Amino acid sequence: MEVLLGVTGCIGAYKVPELVRLLRAGGAGVTVVMTRNAGWFVTEGTLQTLSQRPVYGDMFHPRTADGIEHIDLARRADLLLVAPATAHTLASFAGGLADDLLSTIYLASACPVMVAPAMNSFMYQHSAVQANLEILRRRGVEVVGPGTGELACGESGPGRLLEPADIAAKALALAGGKTGQILAGLNVVISSGPTREPLDGVRFLSNPATGRMGHALAEAAIHRGATVTLVSGPTHLPDPAGARVVHVTRVEEMRHAILEGSEGSDLVVMAAAVGDYRLARPAAGKLKKSARGLDLHLEPAPDILAELGRRRGSAPRPVLVGFAAETDDLVLNARRKLEAKNLDHIVANPVNRAGAGFGAETNQVTLISRNGDTDSWPVMSKSQVAARLLDHLAGVHFSAAAGTEG
Ligand SMILES: Cc1cc2nc3c(=O)[nH]c(=O)nc-3n(C[C@H](O)[C@H](O)[C@H](O)COP(=O)(O)O)c2cc1C
Repeated sequence: MEVLLGVTGCIGAYKVPELVRLLRAGGAGVTVVMTRNAGWFVTEGTLQTLSQRPVYGDMFHPRTADGIEHIDLARRADLLLVAPATAHTLASFAGGLADDLLSTIYLASACPVMVAPAMNSFMYQHSAVQANLEILRRRGVEVVGPGTGELACGESGPGRLLEPADIAAKALALAGGKTGQILAGLNVVISSGPTREPLDGVRFLSNPATGRMGHALAEAAIHRGATVTLVSGPTHLPDPAGARVVHVTRVEEMRHAILEGSEGSDLVVMAAAVGDYRLARPAAGKLKKSARGLDLHLEPAPDILAELGRRRGSAPRPVLVGFAAETDDLVLNARRKLEAKNLDHIVANPVNRAGAGFGAETNQVTLISRNGDTDSWPVMSKSQVAARLLDHLAGVHFSAAAGTEG
């Protein structure tokens, strides 16, 4: 597996030596291409030592005597990974500029391309950067991250380079191509995000789910070769490249999309935080403020998981995995839910702990299976939880299917 690693002029470059180490530990050969400005943040010597290969940079002073270097480098790669990717390099790629070795390699490469943007939050949210990312996504470039949190500039928000372990896991899965395709040939349906139930024409009942867990699952399933339908409530996350995405708002819309998508599917993972209640007849217009207060009678919303669980009789049926967001008696409540809804597995998800639950970048879950197996996992990024869950499900339910695929 050959990873061509582009490094650009960004403070997040201090994480690149660790990324090189992890990629090599994962079995990849790593060739580093640095932009001129990257050298201000991380040294060529460090990356040369860790990759155990020459580092490339200057298009007009090639390191090899024969051939055309940018074409040769592009040809050999299973993956072009740019981490960190500056706003400038993203703009070069989106605009098709070819004024240095890295941007020229991007145009010359036929392999998958993955970029990990990292920059100040205002830069990241600027419409120019967002438009460039959108162009790249539409071209099939895999955009990973950025993460949200404290930034080198002292501000806090989206823009952090994803952790090297996350980037390495995604990169190795993508570079591995067919060898990692343990869900090839399978149809997987995943739900993500919150639902919203209207209270009147302008207000709604919802929850703080961001969709991070469900979207991470969709990406992980795509990397493992599955055909993925992602049914997503309202989130700020971009659609994962390669998934069929159905955008929904209300529980009934999610129910309809999930039931339709799950026909003939192999695996359904319900990671969305679906509302339990709804207002039977929300007012069309805005309810007026009243000194008398307002009583609302909420009725139960459709229980999509229970309905899927009841449907199981008709063969062939999908493997059914639920998520249980719990604040108390995590394992006990989750196990009850698994039984009541007739699921194969449930991921018990504490939503009142630091580093887990709604909006967090990490999660700390317990996987409970129908046969009674209960496995508590350490705090991990949501991408790592997604990867581990899918690898587990592939091993338990689909290893025979994967064996028959090329
Ligand atoms: C201290 C410092 C930190 C920077 N951090 C970032 C960053 O995190 N993200 C970014 O897009 N640009 C950052 N820049 C600006 C880029 O280095 C600049 O846009 C440069 O032209 C990028 O060139 P390259 O994409 O060819 O490497 C930073 C500049 C400096 C001086």
